[in-house]
This record gives sequence, C-alpha cells and structure tokens, in this order.
Amino acid sequence: MSESRVLIVDDEPDMVENLVRILRRAGYRCLRAGDAERALALLEADHPDLLITDLRLPGLDGMELLRRAREADPALPVIVITAYGSIESAVAAIKQGAFDFLPKNFSVDGLLVAVERALGQRRLQVENRNLREQLQQALGFENIVGRSPAMARVFELVRKAARSEANILIRGESGTGKELIARAVHANSPRAAQPFVPVDCASLPEQLLESELFGHEKGAFTGAVRAKPGLMEVAHGGTLFLDEIGELSPALQSKLLRALQERQIRRVGGTALIDVDVRVVSATNRNLREAVARGRFREELYYRVNVIEIALPPLRERAGDVALLAHAFLKRYGQGRLRGFDDDSLAALERYAWPGNVRELQNVIERACALADGETVRLRDLPDYVARGGAPVLRAPGPDGAPALEGAEDLPLREAKERWMSVLEASYLRTLLGRHRGNVSAAAKAAGIDRKTFHRLLTKHRIRAPRERPDEPGGARPEASEARVT
Ligand SMILES: Nc1ncnc2c1ncn2[C@@H]1O[C@H](COP(=O)(O)OP(=O)(O)OP(=O)(O)O)[C@@H](O)[C@H]1O
Ligand SMILES: [Mg+2]
Repeated sequence: MSESRVLIVDDEPDMVENLVRILRRAGYRCLRAGDAERALALLEADHPDLLITDLRLPGLDGMELLRRAREADPALPVIVITAYGSIESAVAAIKQGAFDFLPKNFSVDGLLVAVERALGQRRLQVENRNLREQLQQALGFENIVGRSPAMARVFELVRKAARSEANILIRGESGTGKELIARAVHANSPRAAQPFVPVDCASLPEQLLESELFGHEKGAFTGAVRAKPGLMEVAHGGTLFLDEIGELSPALQSKLLRALQERQIRRVGGTALIDVDVRVVSATNRNLREAVARGRFREELYYRVNVIEIALPPLRERAGDVALLAHAFLKRYGQGRLRGFDDDSLAALERYAWPGNVRELQNVIERACALADGETVRLRDLPDYVARGGAPVLRAPGPDGAPALEGAEDLPLREAKERWMSVLEASYLRTLLGRHRGNVSAAAKAAGIDRKTFHRLLTKHRIRAPRERPDEPGGARPEASEARVT
C-alpha cells in the first residue's frame, strides 16, 4: 500500500516541525499548513488520509476547519490538538466528528497510536465504500439497461418484491435477463449480505442434482468419499436461485417441496434433519402453469415458488430499449474506439425481431465491435440476417392509406413485391381470424380456401389462432390453440 499522507495544521512552527519529524520517521508523508485557509486548499488539492490540527488558529479556527474538512470528505479522520486541560473543547471537537484528540504535550507513542488508529479507520471506511459500490454496480440495477415502459414496470416490481421475503418466479424467453434480475432481487433484499447460490436444474442428471441440492453423507453412494453439504445448506440465510426449475424431475419436485415446507433437509444417505432458511428465486422459460395443468409440475410446488411472478418481456416488446442496449454493449466491447452506429445499422438493429433477446443482441454487438474498421458500426458489420432486416415490419398507414413497409425502398422491385405480398397476406389472415373470433374453419371458408391451407399459411406467418372449435380434430385440448399444420 502506498504511504499514508498526513496534513498537519498549526500556527506554531515548532509544533509542526516536531510532528513532522516523528511522523516521517514512522514512515508517513507529511503536508503542512500554518492556517485553516491553506489547509483547506491542500485538502482539496492533495486529498490527504488524515488531518491533525490545532484548535486555536489565526483566522478560521480549528473547529471550523474540522467542520469544513468533514463536509468535503466525510471519511477523513481528524485528530485535534488541544491545550492542556481544555477537556470541553476536546469534547466539542469529538461531537463535531473529530476522531480523536491529543494534548499539546503528547508522548511519541500516544501520537503514533492515535495516528495508526485513525488511518485504520479510514482504510476500513474506504474499503467498505468500495465494496458497497462494487456490489451495487455488479448486482444492482445500474447495469440492467432498459427504459421502456415494459421494463420500468419490471424494475418497480423487482424493487417491491426484493424487500419482501416472498418466493419469486421469473418467467421469460431465453436471453431476456432472468438471471440478471434474480441477482438484482437478491442484492436489493435484506439477505444481500448472505450468499446468492445459483443451481442449474437443467444441466445435471437427477441423481447428481439431488446430491448437489441436498448434499450427501460419506459413503451415500459410490464415489461419495466424504460428506458434502448441499447448495440449500450453502444458501442458508441467503437466496437459492433455481434456474430452469421447470426441468426438475417429479421426484426432485417432491423433495424440494418437502424441504421448503418444513424448512429442513436431509442429506442423501443421512438421517439428521438440518435447518435451512432460504429464500427461493426461480426462473423458467416454460409455461409452468401449463405444465401444472398437464400434470408435469407439482401444483403445490408451483404455488410455493410462485408467490410473486415477474414476467420479463421479450426484447421485441421493449420499445426503444434495443438502441439503448446496443449503445451500452458498444461501450462495453468497443474499447473506447467505437463511437456509435450509422443510421442504417441502427435501423437494422431496431427492425430485427431478436428471437434470442438481449443475449443475441449482446453477441451481435460484440461481433460488430470486432469487425468494424472505423469509429462507427456499419451495416456490413452486422450478420446478414440482421442486416437484411429479418421479418418486415408494418408501419402506420402512409398518406395514401396503404400500410408502409419499412425498408422496402432499399430492395429490388421483385423482392420488395414479395415482401409486400407477405405482409399483406399476414395482415389479411389476422383480420379474417379476428372477424371470425379465431375460428379457423369459418375464416378459411370466408377466404375461399380449405382449412388445411389456411392453417399452413398461419404457420408460415407464425400467427396463432386464439381459439378453435372443439368439434375440430384435436381442437378440444388447450395446446391446440397453437396454429398447427394437420
Ligand atoms: N437489461 C439488460 N441490460 C444489460 N444486459 C442484459 C440485460 N438483460 C440481459 N443482459 C445480458 O444478456 C445476457 C443474458 O442474460 P441472462 O443470462 O440473465 O438471461 P436468461 O434469461 O437467464 O437467459 P437463459 O434463459 O438463456 O438462461 C447476460 O450476459 C446479461 O448480462
Ligand atoms: Mg439463465
């Protein structure tokens, strides 16, 4: 660590010399000032680690210096030197925030002890502040980018949910930031100082996952050469993050449910019950409610882990966030060299549908940063499928009443026509479906084509038919609400 610097303020040169000599010998660097004004200037310019000041100074007195110094740097320890016997002023100084006081006739040891204690306190405060800032930066909201109304609602819910002890289920497509949100929940919760323990329920075979979660005793199975605590134990007092909870096997669902109900676990191969106090945050990209309806996920477990549900919208539904995120990632991966996006590339990014959500955008920008030559990202730095705009987007109707097709002006006529046709076809199908309240047979009849063909077109345009008549083949089951080719 670099040498600590001490600012010494006194109007008596002998006193200053004396202090400087002792402190230098002990390895400190010293700055000196004969009055408060000069001291304040040095505080601002040199940021010393400790201030030692006499209380009686010409002009601004030591008390006033103390007040102003602590205002400028609340973590700065101050030691005041008091005249012999003036206990009142020492007490007043401590009340004003002085760390310690020394009599004018201090001993060398007394001085050195006071200085070391003050500097130790300073180091702790600085460390704490750094840690706090790091925590906030790494885990708080600061690095979750988003200003769309959809994300503003998420942030508010996260804040409220974090304060409570309720179990939380985060639902969202792949790459929408479920893990990031889970960490933010923990970091903003009363358990923030305790561990956050992620468990990936999808990556391990059932047996291994069981011993990961609940731990095992020595000899519980071949290879269990010593006892090992499970992740639920590790998370005691903190947050257990069950990623992809929908992938849990039925047997593990039951065991987890029991553990959460009783707040106790038994290690694999063990008999003792171990208390565990965990808050559970889970994530899934599946429709768990549907899994419950189909008997694939235990209903009691569903209700236990889903006290508060946070639904993360897909990126395509976060108006304005694509540009914001793209710039944030450019800053992260552009190494200061890249300044921004040209109009074409930004338009392409905003047009694309981002099926892989934020993670896909992040990858695309990282790649673009590697490929870009100049200061800006251009269309050719984006992957073809993004640059060419993915699915065309309908804008509000133009002045002639016809829907405008974004980006079509840039295409050769033949391709532009194809896009036009495709957009019109999709819009036609949607309108008909809406008019016939989702009844595919009726809509097909109105279109003058058979049901099968209509279905095929719906699939081609990824349109979901909201409802089908139960008398249609396969129409009675809930999953038949997805448009399918039969
Ligand atoms: N709003 C956001 N702001 C900044 N970065 C984000 C945001 N959302 C996601 N990311 C980044 O995108 C990547 C994917 O996020 P995360 O792993 O949290 O998604 P996920 O929903 O858990 O995905 P999966 O379902 O594939 O596990 C991470 O690198 C994350 O840092
Ligand atoms: Mg994840």
